[in-house]
Formats: sequence, C-alpha cells, structure tokens
Amino acid sequence: MTTLKTKRPRLLDRLRFHRDEANRLLRAQGNALDELYRRANAVRRQFMGDEVFIRGIVEFSNVCARNCYYCGIRAGNKHVKRYTMSADEILEVVRRFPANGQGTVVLQSGEASASFDDEALGKLIRRIKRETPVAVTVCVGNRPGEIYRYWRDCGMDRYLIRFETSDPGLYARLHPDSSLAERLDCLKTLRDLGVQTGSGFMIGVPGETVEILTNNILLCRKLDLDMIGIGPFIPHPDTPLGNTPNAYAADPDMFFKALAVLRLFNPDAHIPATTAYDAMFSGTGRDLALQRGANVFMPNATPSQYRKDYLLYPGKPCVDESAAQCGACVIHRIQALGRTLGQGPGHSKKRTAGIIT
Ligand code: 5AD
Ligand code: FES
Repeated sequence: MTTLKTKRPRLLDRLRFHRDEANRLLRAQGNALDELYRRANAVRRQFMGDEVFIRGIVEFSNVCARNCYYCGIRAGNKHVKRYTMSADEILEVVRRFPANGQGTVVLQSGEASASFDDEALGKLIRRIKRETPVAVTVCVGNRPGEIYRYWRDCGMDRYLIRFETSDPGLYARLHPDSSLAERLDCLKTLRDLGVQTGSGFMIGVPGETVEILTNNILLCRKLDLDMIGIGPFIPHPDTPLGNTPNAYAADPDMFFKALAVLRLFNPDAHIPATTAYDAMFSGTGRDLALQRGANVFMPNATPSQYRKDYLLYPGKPCVDESAAQCGACVIHRIQALGRTLGQGPGHSKKRTAGIIT
C-alpha cells in the first residue's frame, strides 16, 4: 500500500524533474532549438488540431484605478485620453462577429469598476448572450467573488486574468497596489465557480530570471488553466519601467522558447498568439507563435477611434486599422499558414487534467 510518506518524495522528485526539464529546454540553441519548436508544433496539432480559434478583443474602456509599473494605461499616466464605450456601441461591434468567423468576444478594460460599473457589465453580458451566438470572455482584473458569481449568472463563459509573474517579491515590485496572493485567489474563485479560466504572464519583466520564467510555466500547469496568454514585456516610455529593457533583450529567441515549452507542459490548453509578439517582431510575431505552439488568434475589434488610446505598450500593431480590416487580415494569415478557421465558440478542451504527470 502506498502511504502518504512514500508519495510525497515522489511528488517532489517529479516536480524537480519538470523544473530541470523546462529549464534545460529554455536554454536550447541550434538544432535543439529547432527540435523544441518542431515538438511544440506537433503537440499543438495532436491535442488541439489545426483549427485556429478567433476571439475578437473589444477594449471597451482605458480607465484604470491601478498603477502597475509597466502598463501604459496606468492611472498615473496623465498623457492618456480616457474613454469608455457605451453598451450599445459594444453590442454593435459584437453583432458583426459571426460574419467574420469570430465565435468569442473578449471584453477588456482597465481595472476600474467606476467607469463601466459591475452591474452595467452584467447587463451587457446578458444582452450579448441573448442577442448573439457569441461566447463572452471578460478581462477586467481583480473583483470580489460575488461579482464574478453575478457575471457568471449573467452568462459569462470565461475570464482572463494573468498572474504576470509567479515570484511574489517580483510581483510586489511591479504592482504597488496588489499582491500575487490576491491574484491567485481570484483565479481560484473563478475556477470554483465553474468559469473557464485563463491566466498567464509577461516574459522578461525587469528582474525576471530563467528560473522565475520556468516557475511561471510550471504555475500555469499547476493551475490547470483552460487558456494561457503570455507575451514579451515591452517598456512603455510613460511608465516607471520605460527605460528598463526586457530581461531577454539580447536573446529574443527566449520569447518563442517560453511559448514552445508552455505548450509542451500544457498540451490541451488554448494558447493565443498574443499581440505583443507582433509588436516585438514587426508584424510577423503572431504567425511564428502559431507555428510554435499557439492555436488562438485574438484580433483587435475595438472601433478605430479608440485604438490609439489603448496602448499598454508602444508599437502595438493595427492601431490604424478597423475591426473589419483586422477581421479579414487574420483569416488571411491563418489560411496562409495552412491552418483552418475554428468553428463555434472554441470552449475549453480540457479533458485530461495533468496529462504529463
Ligand atoms: N508590455 C507587455 N505586456 C503588457 N501588459 C501590460 N503592460 C504591458 C507591457 N508594457 C500585459 C499584461 C496584462 C495584459 C492585458 O497586457 O500582462 O495582463
Ligand atoms: Fe491598469 Fe495595471 S495599470 S490594471
């Protein structure tokens, strides 16, 4: 009979093995790097198929009460022209989604319930669910459990909230007004409510080491996430970290290595090719990400007049395009890679929690 006493060392051994393996892969170069990308792409195909799900992001308000040191729309940035879209404006955008093959809307804003209050957001979720076939993902930061519950009851399908870094000390140095423990609590609450949960982290925030990056990847796996979004940190000049380069500025392969290793350790999670990859690799980063582990594309669906005011980091692509242009462009990009368009809402494929034990 296996007792707890004998199980525990085996768990620790396994954890150490995974940590060593992830760490080793993140240092791959030359042929080993090509092999890593090939494996990540093969695992993506095996578990998620060749479909790429398209989820349009509507950045419905750039009002934010927080002051994360890296973020361009932080409350302290007085250069930002603040806006909040109306519910009717948002709904008008979402109604056009099905015609563009977009089965999900991601409603994203700064973290400030005062601009678009929690009840108004609940009512909007209800209207989207009643009046369109589109699935609703919400991404508006830390909120009390009862608000998450209310939104779930209104029909919210999914929630995205990155943990940003798995290191509590580094988290505290990046976020003057919240803690990693609070973030992880939000994730747990959402999970317990049965909401499909997405999280993730930035790659290369100042102070990050390869060991922390390894732990970020392992934390995603431990949280057994339905969706995982990661992307390079890009310094924004109007923030306290504006002059601090990305920790891997001299080794840009690291951004793709992180994605590939993330896929190997989370074979059945939805992993988007995030916008920051295009910002960092002049318009081709998201295509490369789709070939190195990603299976989701999140085009910008924010109306043109607001896009330039939602700059979390500089160099964000598509600020001069319209939602229709981005919708058409993304279909072309996916087809050019020989992939197919995801059909339906693209809900979580989680059926094999902890497939690598
Ligand atoms: N560089 C890269 N990503 C950023 N984000 C915010 N600011 C930056 C930046 N300067 C990311 C955070 C946040 C997500 C919405 O955007 O990870 O969770
Ligand atoms: Fe807005 Fe971080 S600055 S949530």
